[in-house]
Amino acid sequence: MLRILFLGDIIGEPGRAAVIACLPSLKRVWEIDFIIVNGENTAGGRGITPKIAIDLMRAGAAVITTGDHIWDQKEITAYLPTEPRVLRPLNYPVGAPGSGSIVLDTAKGPVGVINVQGRTFTLPPLENPFLAMDAEVARMREETKVIFVDVHAETTSEKIAMGRFLDGRVSAVVGTHTHVQTADEQIFPGGTAFLCDAGMCGPDESILGRKIEPILQRFVSSLPVAFPVAPGPVTLHGALIDVDETTGKALSIKRVKHPCPPADGV
Ligand SMILES: [Fe+2]
Ligand SMILES: [Fe+2]
Repeated sequence: MLRILFLGDIIGEPGRAAVIACLPSLKRVWEIDFIIVNGENTAGGRGITPKIAIDLMRAGAAVITTGDHIWDQKEITAYLPTEPRVLRPLNYPVGAPGSGSIVLDTAKGPVGVINVQGRTFTLPPLENPFLAMDAEVARMREETKVIFVDVHAETTSEKIAMGRFLDGRVSAVVGTHTHVQTADEQIFPGGTAFLCDAGMCGPDESILGRKIEPILQRFVSSLPVAFPVAPGPVTLHGALIDVDETTGKALSIKRVKHPCPPADGV
């Protein structure tokens, strides 16, 4: 059995401080073999810098996935080709810097990770994610059957469709981008674990990780307003997935909703 922890969109300084503080003890106590985190909002809520990526990997993240905010920090464009463990969505047109997938060796065999972006209400419009995944999963299965997919998309329908499309071909499909955890964790008939959205690792007293007041002002006034990241206590949201590494099929999926720092000290 191989245990994967996935954490959804990490929001700004409060989110990444919490992840960095809690990840090493969670890894030990929950006996996690492989950690994947979504880092698209780690730099002030917009994008990720090379330094932040390094800090997250030092804390235990094996792979960092992203999404529509990937290019928000300008240093990332030159960094991506040098660091294959930081992924951008797979379905960019040919020639985009970086990669949308990686296979890493672990003590329990190779583990593949793919990051793909949806197209419904999600910008920029990218190549067809279903066709891109069809080809990429077929290619990756030559190397490993243990494959984790972060589908970064707005709508529940597109994420569920991706999960069903890949059922039996990958170990898990978990959604990101909405910052709100869904309660539909399940294992599909073909053996693929699924959760429509992992939720965020960000401040609890917020609107999707941002300060409440400016967001309310925007909705009330319809005028442009800056959206700073909110301060305060953080809850880590994600999924814990056990996979049979000999078949690539999921054995279990549990939603993670873990205050950090936790009340019980773990
Ligand atoms: Fe996000
Ligand atoms: Fe996003």
